[in-house]
Amino acid sequence: MKQFFSVADVDSLSRLVDEALQLKGNPFMAEYLGKRKTLGLVFLNPSLRTRLSTQKAALHLGMDVMVMNMDKEGWALETRDGVIMDGTTVEHIREAAAVMGQYCDILGLRSFPKLQDRDEDYSEDLFRKFMTYSKIPVISLESATRHPLQSLTDLITIRECWQDAERRPKVILAWAPHIKALPQAVPNSFSEWMCRAQAEGMVDFTIAHPNGYALAEEFTRGATVTSSLDEALHDADFVYVKNWSSYEDYGKIHSVDGRWMLDIQRLTQTNQAKVMHCLPVRRDLELASDVLDGPQSLVIQEAGNRVWAAQAVLKRILEQLLSAS
Ligand code: CP
Repeated sequence: MKQFFSVADVDSLSRLVDEALQLKGNPFMAEYLGKRKTLGLVFLNPSLRTRLSTQKAALHLGMDVMVMNMDKEGWALETRDGVIMDGTTVEHIREAAAVMGQYCDILGLRSFPKLQDRDEDYSEDLFRKFMTYSKIPVISLESATRHPLQSLTDLITIRECWQDAERRPKVILAWAPHIKALPQAVPNSFSEWMCRAQAEGMVDFTIAHPNGYALAEEFTRGATVTSSLDEALHDADFVYVKNWSSYEDYGKIHSVDGRWMLDIQRLTQTNQAKVMHCLPVRRDLELASDVLDGPQSLVIQEAGNRVWAAQAVLKRILEQLLSAS
């Protein structure tokens, strides 16, 4: 693996999930692989889980880790080409990424969308420039359109909680209300990974959202899509709860309809479904406290599995680096 930006960077989902679960069973099985290698984690936005789990994964592999909170501690970045930098930006991404590439062997980058210009966000311009100019392998810690470490984690969690070899689990992605306009990165990515998992025979996948919240088609090909939460919940085995803002009316909120919030009553329609959320979650707005605190919630186990997703990806990239050297 040379980079980790989307599901397209993975050859076989089930092999990568197997490897992550093997690492979970034996965290230090490859502890010398990253010796004398440095991971740089660059954040342009806040993080709890991604920051800590990726650091822990790197430490399990014997790597050194440097963290840069670029939004607070770095120079203001210019990403446009051909502009005279006589405004507020101080350093161009061409130099900044190239310099970080001199200090590190692998870089992770988190960069959220601005949610103002869809074409700009979906071009992933900043991320692609960072990959180009750093000249070393880059891992997405969440980009404008995707959050692949989260999605790999989610697939790992589904695999370890599903014991029935006779049938595939019914997995649903359920839109939830929120008062802030949130990116589509997590649901895009979850959908992209679940569509691929469905194609590989691992799950059956349905998306439920109110009208006006359709995700971009490139992420949802193969999914069943409905505007009825109750219809989707029927016989569901896993419910992945997440808010996102409109893709069509880009970055806008059309509805904060509380009837889309999953609570214990709604959950009874399912096949005793396990409930997932990437976190952070707004209690009793996005997801009811009685679900979060109940036995069907997987959110803490899911967050714990972020370590094994990151470790499996870092291990693959380190192996590639060693084979190339
Ligand atoms: N789920 C997730 O990526 O959490 P953080 O934003 O806290 O890293």
